[in-house]
Amino acid sequence: MASNTRPLAIVTGASSGIGYELAKCCADHGFDLLIAADEPAITEAAQDFRALGAAVETVEADLATLDGVDKLYAATHGRPVEALLANAGHGLGHGFLDQDFHDVRHVMDTNITGTLYLIQKVGRDMRTRGQGRILITGSVAGFMPGTFQAVYNGTKAFLNSFSWALRNEIQDTGVTVTCLMPGATETEFFERADMLDTKVGQAEKDDPADVAKAGFDAMMEGEGDVVTGWRNKLQTAMANVTPASMLAEQHRKKAEPGSGEK
Ligand SMILES: NC(=O)c1ccc[n+]([C@@H]2O[C@H](COP(=O)([O-])OP(=O)(O)OC[C@H]3O[C@@H](n4cnc5c(N)ncnc54)[C@H](OP(=O)(O)O)[C@@H]3O)[C@@H](O)[C@H]2O)c1
Repeated sequence: MASNTRPLAIVTGASSGIGYELAKCCADHGFDLLIAADEPAITEAAQDFRALGAAVETVEADLATLDGVDKLYAATHGRPVEALLANAGHGLGHGFLDQDFHDVRHVMDTNITGTLYLIQKVGRDMRTRGQGRILITGSVAGFMPGTFQAVYNGTKAFLNSFSWALRNEIQDTGVTVTCLMPGATETEFFERADMLDTKVGQAEKDDPADVAKAGFDAMMEGEGDVVTGWRNKLQTAMANVTPASMLAEQHRKKAEPGSGEK
């Protein structure tokens, strides 16, 4: 990577959606970028970020695997990472008993295992240097049992919780941890999760650029978490005082296959 005067940010899942917009925020604010995704589209995204003045290196890897994360980490070539935006993730619609376990495992391995492995590697370096910012993309989905998206919601509940715990563990190290908790956002997420025939898949959604900006700003401020938009803030506040059985039933109404078809 060319310029060493600019700080370096790693953004995972930067080929589309929220991660693409997060990488744009980083480039706009003077970061160089190391970006990763699982498909060649990541190299096209890189061109957009270079146009904003950032030196950009891309890594194509399956971040559900430890090898994929090792490949990404190796691409830093020892250059200090000022910001880690651990955003890559995906969902999986339909009933749990009807899902292919390989797909189930890929959700868990991407959203949890690969994310944590990367955070541990980069976080250790940050702690040694006494500075750094970590942004984890959790979700408001982590506040409710995800009927017909059960495993995904579970992974996001894990990340929401993990983020606060890690933040507290390392509070005196100069490294901050922030959790971005978006609500339904207009990205490729619902198509990839095979949820286009659901109510939530067809509903109007938040703009990924707005969501990313809120997350980036919260990370730069060192805040603990950010829920974007008043509707999502209300939803999470209500979720904290609503019985889990009711939340599960509400989720069924918006995520059941066919629920979007009139
Ligand atoms: N959209 C929503 O409503 C919503 C709401 C709350 C939270 N989120 C979270 O926001 C994050 C970004 O999702 P998005 O909505 O922006 O969806 P998206 O447009 O589908 O983007 C997902 C990104 O993650 C990458 N990715 C997924 N699995 C990967 C893997 N195993 N290895 C490497 N890269 C992988 C994808 O790259 P490839 O295309 O190369 O696989 C893509 O760049 C996810 O963590 C998601 O859970 C989304």
